[in-house]
Amino acid sequence: MKRFVDLAQLPRDEVLALLELARRLESHPEPQALAGKILGLVFFNPSLRTLASCQTAMLRLGGGSFVINPGQGSWQLETRDGVVMDGAAAEHVREALPVLASYCDALGIRAFAAGRDLAHDLAETTFGTMAALIDKPLINLESAANHPCQALADWKTLDDLAVPRTARFVLSWAWHPRALPLAVPAAALHMAALRGMEVIVLRPEGFALPPAIMERARQAAAAAGGSIRETSERASALKGADVLYVKEWGATACYGDNAADARLRAPLTDWCVREDWFAAAAAGCRVMHCLPVRRNTAISDAVLDGPRSAVQLEARNRLPTQMAVLHQLLRTPP
Ligand code: CP
Repeated sequence: MKRFVDLAQLPRDEVLALLELARRLESHPEPQALAGKILGLVFFNPSLRTLASCQTAMLRLGGGSFVINPGQGSWQLETRDGVVMDGAAAEHVREALPVLASYCDALGIRAFAAGRDLAHDLAETTFGTMAALIDKPLINLESAANHPCQALADWKTLDDLAVPRTARFVLSWAWHPRALPLAVPAAALHMAALRGMEVIVLRPEGFALPPAIMERARQAAAAAGGSIRETSERASALKGADVLYVKEWGATACYGDNAADARLRAPLTDWCVREDWFAAAAAGCRVMHCLPVRRNTAISDAVLDGPRSAVQLEARNRLPTQMAVLHQLLRTPP
């Protein structure tokens, strides 16, 4: 494995091997495995878990890291090609990224969706342009439409909770004051499909996931023996649910139009997960969310603090799975 940019680009066996390695590194630490190795981290957007788990993973494996937050203590970086750089950005990624890659053994990049043009974001145009500039192992730390590190941690969380492979996994839209990117719902959907689960996407009208994301997941589900369906009917979706994966995302019916998105989501504040959502769910139905989460907008205090919540385990699993990815990318066999 030379790049970890999309779970869908890896054979299923390689994903399972990464999960096995994550479990092994939890029980049998390897404090010198990456001695002398350096991970470069470029965060165009904020982070708590991804940043901290990447740096901690390198330290726990004997390596080190550096962090660049463009525009915050380093030059603001331009990502678009062919523009006249007479604005805030002092340097282009075409110069900056090869320089940074030359200082390290692997590079991780976080660059969220611009949120203006759905086709541009689904094509991963910005991340792809940057990836082409780098001749080192590369990790996607969340791009426009993908978050494979989160997806790997979520898969491990399902395994840790002994959720059966064929269990009912409901990916539900939740309310948020503004449109958020499609990266996490797309990655969670694909992960559950690849795991072979019975997946239901629950979302209000106007918030359907793009056909390209759904079709890719359907193909993964078919190959793994699972299924995918989509609905706006909450009661039927949650009936018998084993896992409710909660995520906020923007209206795909009017992508890039913030005013139209705001009008569409305004009447949907009841899409905040409360205990009564679980009336017909399976006993012990668990709740997942990648974090950060806004309390009592997307999920109620009672659910987040209650026994259904797996959000802390998900966040903790970012560390062993990040260690597994870095170990696989950078470890030189003895
Ligand atoms: N879930 C996740 O990626 O968290 P951060 O945005 O804090 O890194």
